[in-house]
Amino acid sequence: MSLKWLAVIAAGTAWAGPVYHGGVEDVFARRCVVCHQAGGIGPMQLGTYAQVRPWARAIREAVLERTMPPWSADSSVGVRFRNDRTLSAEERQAIVDWVDAGAAEGPAVVETKMVPGGTGPMAEARRAPDLVVKIPGFPVPASGVVEYTFLVTPVRIEQDEWIERAEWKVQHPEVIHHINAFIRPTGSSYVAEAPAGKFYVASGSERSARRPDEAEIDRRELLVGYEPGYRPEPWGAGRAKLLRKDADIVFEMHYTPNGHAVTDYSELDIYLAREAPRERVITIAPADAQLQIPAGDADYRSEATATFTQPVTLISLQPHMHLRGKAYRMTLVYPDGRRQLLLSVPHYDFHWQTTYFLAEPMRLPKGAAIECVAEYDNSPNNPNNPDPKKTVRWGDQSWEEMNIGFLEAAIPAGGDADVAVLSGTTKPAPGGGR
Ligand code: HEC
Repeated sequence: MSLKWLAVIAAGTAWAGPVYHGGVEDVFARRCVVCHQAGGIGPMQLGTYAQVRPWARAIREAVLERTMPPWSADSSVGVRFRNDRTLSAEERQAIVDWVDAGAAEGPAVVETKMVPGGTGPMAEARRAPDLVVKIPGFPVPASGVVEYTFLVTPVRIEQDEWIERAEWKVQHPEVIHHINAFIRPTGSSYVAEAPAGKFYVASGSERSARRPDEAEIDRRELLVGYEPGYRPEPWGAGRAKLLRKDADIVFEMHYTPNGHAVTDYSELDIYLAREAPRERVITIAPADAQLQIPAGDADYRSEATATFTQPVTLISLQPHMHLRGKAYRMTLVYPDGRRQLLLSVPHYDFHWQTTYFLAEPMRLPKGAAIECVAEYDNSPNNPNNPDPKKTVRWGDQSWEEMNIGFLEAAIPAGGDADVAVLSGTTKPAPGGGR
């Protein structure tokens, strides 16, 4: 949609120039309201002129400094992402011009909205979910630290099914740092000791470790994550994730209290495919569980790699580190050694976990690898560092660390899901470490 200013003739008066209605209103609706709405994570609402107007100056500054909308990746390098929140130059200029011209409202434009019909694709999109996995009321206190909590929900369906879409309906985005939903096959070692249907907290040492004979995909598979600014992103036509009939759905929940106690009943809506898909979407997770970040080290580097043993189509990337995470890069290395940077997050922010969906899914040949390079700052100069005097190792808690590069990829529906050799190595940065 073009952002030309609407010139509205009202009662013989010509009104031309940057106005809210029919102008920047649309930019706010598309780019800001997802977070700046009632119950959203943004500190104020930006859904109406009255809500936006008092913030005009701050908004001008935030868009010029590119702090809003938040987006951690460097959009000038790597591949393009479908969910890139960065404003276009045109959108940014429209906001700046509007504020500079006095942030006028302009006459309200009467809108005619299309009401979706009762049949066709819209009706299909509105169909009820086939499975709903609901959090049975998680008590989030007003303050303090809520430990990572797990919730295991057995699914028990009659036959193996394909998940075409899985979408979060969160109730309290203001206190949800992130929730990951995993598919856990029977017999898996992943939080094996957790009782079904109950909230479960465990320290890293109590948690069952991955068995040496267990393929990563047989242990757990990320189904879909929720993070601030989340919006559902389809995997693409003819693609689905496999849900075996005796699998469990495991939620890994991270709540961050914000001053108001609430009870959370967020839910995950699962839509099963009506027809067998052409391709199976799998999530693999190269990780470096050996990392060991010396106290005070400002420049520690860890690497994890997935080397594909068959051709795949790459769909999304999700870097994961904790509070000492500084920067993250994912690079594709072709079998002939050619390298292509896919994603660079120069200023990683733990509070903005993001799944990056490739605008154009990429076909990778057998033998291609994805290198996930994580950099950490364990020095006192990192304002998020919980304790620069500690050596930091792998663990779930935000004061421990991780390097996981979640990758979503598509393979033929009947294919072998064990598609990659995963490895993790820790390399102190040149001059860093000790
Ligand atoms: C993905 C969620 C998200 C989106 C999208 C988003 N914001 Fe924000 N915004 C936040 C959060 C969270 C904060 C408060 C914390 C912070 O500053 O990072 C914030 C803070 C702000 C502030 C600062 C408020 C203050 O206290 O000074 C402004 C101004 C702002 N946003 C404007 C915008 C505008 C304009 C857009 C769209 C062009 C936008 N935001 C899009 C989440 C978002």
